[in-house]
Amino acid sequence: MNITVINGTPVKGVTYHMKNMFLEHFDKNVTITEFYPEDMPDLCVGCKNCFMKGEALCPHKDKTMPVWESFLKADLIVFAYPVYALRAPASIKTLLDHLCVHWMVHRPKKEMFSKTVAIITNSVGAPNGAAQKDVKTSFSWMGVSRIYTCGAGMMGDIFWDKITAKSLKMLRKKTKRLYKKVHNIKPLRRMRLKEAVRFMACKMIHKATLKNEDTPSLDNQHYIEHGWIKAKPANSKSWRS
Ligand SMILES: Cc1cc2nc3c(=O)[nH]c(=O)nc-3n(C[C@H](O)[C@H](O)[C@H](O)COP(=O)(O)O)c2cc1C
Repeated sequence: MNITVINGTPVKGVTYHMKNMFLEHFDKNVTITEFYPEDMPDLCVGCKNCFMKGEALCPHKDKTMPVWESFLKADLIVFAYPVYALRAPASIKTLLDHLCVHWMVHRPKKEMFSKTVAIITNSVGAPNGAAQKDVKTSFSWMGVSRIYTCGAGMMGDIFWDKITAKSLKMLRKKTKRLYKKVHNIKPLRRMRLKEAVRFMACKMIHKATLKNEDTPSLDNQHYIEHGWIKAKPANSKSWRS
């Protein structure tokens, strides 16, 4: 089993230890690749090269590509991050921004459709749902249907070196519960309803936009190459399907 982990904080605090508690349950045959905030791309500059010319022309490709390639090889993708301002921290958001090109509205990767994502978060006390949704939304739009979450409200118990036995027990219980959900996952054979409906809508959008294009956009070329929409017949004014 290949696991790719995105750590959303450089601090070896609650998040780091929650993630380790979760990973410790896996046996030694598992290959784990970890990325930290220093491995994340800089802020997206908004050039839109990824959409219009190809992601190889992204100014931050040297940081984005290794993470993306690791995702494509992974059976399980793990995000571990603290809640900042009720949301995911900026290191996570900047990665997500660089992956928009792989949303189903653009150029999704088939490999992603069968994957599983696990999101581990914690906060002082605020609900973790909105922060988890940042990652959930992105991966759902990439066609990932199986996304599990594990969130902990620390109730002020936020310094790892002073953590109480009660909080430790709670974190152990939650991370073990997450492990039980994902430890023997097989690739998902079919997208679930929400993602399948979105994908169908995306196919319709691409089919419609292709009609007005003399040369198919990169996104439409991608859809044609994968057989998700049909190519426009050459010199056909009455092209309909
Ligand atoms: C910049 C910043 C913003 C934060 N925002 C929130 C917040 O909106 N709600 C909350 O409950 N905790 C918030 N926290 C607290 C962290 O989520 C909490 O301390 C968490 O346990 C930190 O994990 P760590 O030990 O891995 O750094 C914030 C902390 C920082 C540093």
